[in-house]
Amino acid sequence: MNPVNIGNNLVELDITSSTNDYCKKLLKEGHVSEGTVILADYQKKGKGQAGSSWESEKGKNLTFSVVLFPEFLDIHKQFYVAMSVSAGLTDFLSRMSIDSEIKWPNDIYIKNKKIAGILIENSVMKNRIVNSIVGIGINVNQNVFSSSIPNPTSIYLETKDAADLRKLYKSLLPCLNKWLNLLYSLKYNRIKTSYMERMLLLNKEASFTDVNGTFQGTVTGVEENGMLLIKTVSGKTRRYNFREVSFPY
Ligand code: BTN
Repeated sequence: MNPVNIGNNLVELDITSSTNDYCKKLLKEGHVSEGTVILADYQKKGKGQAGSSWESEKGKNLTFSVVLFPEFLDIHKQFYVAMSVSAGLTDFLSRMSIDSEIKWPNDIYIKNKKIAGILIENSVMKNRIVNSIVGIGINVNQNVFSSSIPNPTSIYLETKDAADLRKLYKSLLPCLNKWLNLLYSLKYNRIKTSYMERMLLLNKEASFTDVNGTFQGTVTGVEENGMLLIKTVSGKTRRYNFREVSFPY
């Protein structure tokens, strides 16, 4: 696979509806190269996972999307994109001396607070990923969030230092490029191992909730298709798809 170079082409927008939707439009029009980043100062309708919205005050945070063409990737392996990007984001934060963890499937947490989210939208044809739009929102300088957001934090709230968004974006690119290039060189084990090492609540007993109620269990890992593995106190392992189980925080 040819290496990928995230950020080789940067489109900066003052305002857009959603950078993911902007990428979708570019892909439809057919002229966008792999690695293109669409970065917005403000999104009128920033999208979160599962149809939620992504709140980000104008000019305060990093909100951008990356266009990828990982055509080598079988749909059963699509979770590797999320794992690679999550690993890249935790590396980026640790470079700033911020310890973060990955809350399955791909939220970035500091203790029990969310600092970044990822929304990946894939187009699939004949079991292959034709294109992947990787939307990333990182809370940087925002210090007040609407009360409806559960436990948000930001780089500012963690470090008490206002960060330069452009510098931050530049220092993030090598972290994303490192992990996405591991994916493009098919280093699946390395990616999955690193993802698991950084998982929130890995090997720690906690209470989880599924359709049958709340139970005690321990996260033991993730399958390459993205399913979460939780071992219950009786020793049985339960497998969960996205949104089939919720964490204590
Ligand atoms: C989530 O945690 O719910 C995912 C949040 C993803 C937010 C980013 S901001 C840039 C990109 N454009 C969007 O509309 N959403 C993603």
